[in-house]
Amino acid sequence: MRNFSLLIIFALANALAGFTLQQSGSKDKKKNSEKNYPRVAAVSFSKDVFPIIKKHCLPCHASDSDNRSELVLESYDDIITGGKHGTPVVPGKGSESLIVQKVSPNPPFGKQMPLMTKKKLNDGQIDTLRMWIDQGAKKN
Ligand code: HEC
Repeated sequence: MRNFSLLIIFALANALAGFTLQQSGSKDKKKNSEKNYPRVAAVSFSKDVFPIIKKHCLPCHASDSDNRSELVLESYDDIITGGKHGTPVVPGKGSESLIVQKVSPNPPFGKQMPLMTKKKLNDGQIDTLRMWIDQGAKKN
């Protein structure tokens, strides 16, 4: 339920941002730049996403571990390359991305990540991954 509300808020904020952008094209630029438009905070790969992965997914998903998923999560390029089931990141589609599905309850196959002794990610951490992908999965 909480995830769902967050999604709605995110969608509304995006719609609003799109609308104000459209409007600004037709109006005086100087006037518009003085206004504060509502904005969705940009998620950074290096500051927000990678620290979560580093802490919760390595060393299982390191290149020198014999993880049967063949998925290495040591760098942006490794993550995009993906493993046995292909790239786990579909830019613009967080909820359809395997990396988000695998850290959520009831993944499409196998177990919820992180496996075993490691603590599950909290909703905020999962939302961070999802929003980063929704925003284009940039190397930012
Ligand atoms: C304790 C070791 C361990 C940890 C920690 C771990 N994983 Fe995994 N992961 C595995 C194993 C083993 C598999 C293969 C079995 C499966 O798919 O359930 C796997 C499979 C996956 C897959 C499927 C890849 C494919 O193409 O088949 C994804 C995506 C994934 N993990 C993401 C993550 C993420 C994201 C984290 C951190 C939040 C994480 N894992 C933490 C061991 C781990």
